Amino acid sequence: MYTLARQLLFKLSPETSHDLSLDLIGAGGRLGLNGLLCKAPAKMPVNVMGLDFPNPVGLAAGLDKNGAAIDGFAQLGFGFVEIGTITPRPQPGNPKPRLFRLPEAEAIINRMGFNNLGVDHLLARVAAAKYKGVLGINIGKNFDTPVERAVDDYLICLDKVYAHASYVTVNVSSPNTPGLRSLQFGDSLKQLLADLATRRAELALRHGRHVPLAIKIART
Ligand SMILES: Cc1cc2nc3c(=O)[nH]c(=O)nc-3n(C[C@H](O)[C@H](O)[C@H](O)COP(=O)(O)O)c2cc1C
Repeated sequence: MYTLARQLLFKLSPETSHDLSLDLIGAGGRLGLNGLLCKAPAKMPVNVMGLDFPNPVGLAAGLDKNGAAIDGFAQLGFGFVEIGTITPRPQPGNPKPRLFRLPEAEAIINRMGFNNLGVDHLLARVAAAKYKGVLGINIGKNFDTPVERAVDDYLICLDKVYAHASYVTVNVSSPNTPGLRSLQFGDSLKQLLADLATRRAELALRHGRHVPLAIKIART
């Protein structure tokens, strides 16, 4: 089935295939059908960051940026689902084309640029989902927020998603948002982490729950 689906999807542009797949996985999830497509995953429980994962294979951020198909992915057997990257305000991302196949390397090049519908939309999708497993929410900054003010965007997102996430990923890894990777180093990183840690302590008190923060950096 995978071979057939791949042949059909490769007739479409990479981004159209992506959108169609996401729609189908979302629809299958709403109908509760996706579990029929695959065997139940092996039980391989792991505890990381104080969280219990049923298995260590999860959905990486970027496939379901807006939380459109949380139940659909959960039914495929992932040990966790990470949605986002989400930004405070909706933004269109880079001009198309911005996703490119490299079939000979079985790879794709991603220049999406954090296209997303904004954190409020994502939270509405989370509220509509039935999934009760480990949910990561990956947060970023809007492209037009100056990098010196980036921490404001991360704090806005952290405040909003805190009560709804099993863990929050602070994404400073993307090459597609100008200046973002400068936050991966030195004083910028220290300041960002200090501000996030302070706010996390306040949120933990307010919500009575400690939510782990993961920092996503790029290999350079
Ligand atoms: C099309 C595409 C979009 C992505 N979007 C995001 C994103 O929005 N946020 C993020 O943190 N990572 C994003 N990523 C990176 C993935 O989450 C993952 O870290 C990366 O693909 C490396 O894992 P892999 O080697 O299994 O592909 C994206 C990757 C791809 C291919």
